[in-house]
Amino acid sequence: MRVGILTSGGDAPGMNACVRAVVRGCIYYGMEVIGIHQGYEGLLNDDMEMLQTSSVADIIHRGGTILQTARCARFENDEGILDAYENLRKHGIEALVVIGGDGTMRGALRLHELTRMRVFGLPGTIDNDLAYTDFTIGFDTSVNTALNAIGNIRDTSSSHGRTTIIEVMGRDCGDIALHAGLAGGAETIIIPERPFDLDDIVKKLQAGRARGKRHSIIVKAEGAAISSADLAAVLTERMGGVEVKVVILGYIQRGGSPTARDRILASRTGVRCVELIREGVSNAAIGIKGDTIVDYPLSVALAMEKDSHLEYQRICDILL
Ligand code: F6P
Repeated sequence: MRVGILTSGGDAPGMNACVRAVVRGCIYYGMEVIGIHQGYEGLLNDDMEMLQTSSVADIIHRGGTILQTARCARFENDEGILDAYENLRKHGIEALVVIGGDGTMRGALRLHELTRMRVFGLPGTIDNDLAYTDFTIGFDTSVNTALNAIGNIRDTSSSHGRTTIIEVMGRDCGDIALHAGLAGGAETIIIPERPFDLDDIVKKLQAGRARGKRHSIIVKAEGAAISSADLAAVLTERMGGVEVKVVILGYIQRGGSPTARDRILASRTGVRCVELIREGVSNAAIGIKGDTIVDYPLSVALAMEKDSHLEYQRICDILL
């Protein structure tokens, strides 16, 4: 039995731990593993190598992905997918494991629909935007990186009596903002999933000032319906000259050594993936619900709708 593995889309801390788990799990059960470089791009370019136990030594703590990654436009149409399938066949690969986000999993599902290739999706993305799993690999590290940044910014923001807007990643998902903002004690959190009212935000900041609070932290998701620059301009104007700064955290959130939580999630889902391959399952997305590792057919997983962590939103409302 020969398994192919790739990482695709934006990298995420914990992808290496996941590659390690799949490779070592496969070898443990007597299967061969081929590592495909640069995601679907490498699959189309026939860029792959046989992996051994030692190939994944000393990587569990490393951010990024040793397999490298790419966003691949060619894999978004059936012609490209069929070309990629030819390379899988050429190398005798009978099951393909992909580590990535929504786009990566949709590509894998389409490959399965067109060719019946066995495909397995592991949730590697900082965005936490996959509905079928409570958490994705990389999300926890990213939240903690954002949290450290919020702490540092809070120090200087309070020294200068400033309002600071901290913009975090997440594409259309507000989970990084919600979790880092809640843990970081932000005064206001703005996310794409929830409408916001500028008057309410101004009132809340002014009420804080009236109580003697000299600084404020606003955590805003990049996908929210207002840009950080526009928000800063509105707040400066409406709050009578209060100094408003914008900090866009950017790629700092995507790098760094994964947290224990991400490494453990990567290891558990990776080993479960290998077990599903052994059990003869044709396709699956693997994730976590509560503390249980779960799997669903890819089409079922990708049709689920995210609950946007409504309980977290309610707690923020009470505590902010
Ligand atoms: O999906 C991960 C992510 O970091 C998003 O949070 C962000 O919107 C996007 O990737 C940025 O992608 P790229 O690095 O391709 O510009």
